[in-house]
Amino acid sequence: MSSPIEINSIYPPDRLVIPGLYVKDLKGVLVPEGLIKDRVSKLAEEISSKHYPNDLLAVCVLDGAMRFFVDLLYNEHMLAPVTEVETLKAKSYEGKESTGKISISGFDFSKVKDKRVILVEDILDTGTTLDKVTKEILVHNPKCLEVACLLDKPSRRVTPVNVDYCGFVIPNEFVVGFGLDFNGNYRGLKHICVLKEEVYRTEKK
Ligand code: IMP
Ligand code: MG
Repeated sequence: MSSPIEINSIYPPDRLVIPGLYVKDLKGVLVPEGLIKDRVSKLAEEISSKHYPNDLLAVCVLDGAMRFFVDLLYNEHMLAPVTEVETLKAKSYEGKESTGKISISGFDFSKVKDKRVILVEDILDTGTTLDKVTKEILVHNPKCLEVACLLDKPSRRVTPVNVDYCGFVIPNEFVVGFGLDFNGNYRGLKHICVLKEEVYRTEKK
């Protein structure tokens, strides 16, 4: 598997196309749309070369990973047959802070028995969410379990987690866009952007 791409610079928001409504709230663009697209294709290719022609069960961790999930699994480079798709809801964040308590709902874990499972997550932060979800899946005896995660913020890690396919390693910034939100907002941004601190400090949770 290829190493994730390390992102260290932020592009000023006036240099790329961002809907005017959002520009004032953003510190800048961390991962532009084109780079996300290419990297997601690469991950699709890697998953395919490992698993083709075996069937996969793909599980999306809602809500944030929905966009990544769709682009990864319905990618032109995804040749492994993803014969089953499932979703689960994991909630840990209130506003900008992880509560540390994870609630998981909406998934019948017994479905993973004897399947090749790919768990798809948007961002690995403290690690608490993926730790809890992967342990719960493993209890139900899948044939194998791999994790695909678009972003990793290693500086925030509390619980170590193994990720098999990772898109980008990013600095400790709160990011939005490409499905990631802050209190339900900014999901529709095409680029992965850094939210200004004053936005999450002043907005009511
Ligand atoms: P963890 O349990 O602390 O690893 O947090 C994982 C979850 O927190 C992710 O699935 C996201 O939903 C959310 N999260 C963590 N960092 C960010 C961020 O920078 N922007 C938006 N959501 C985030
Ligand atoms: Mg998530």
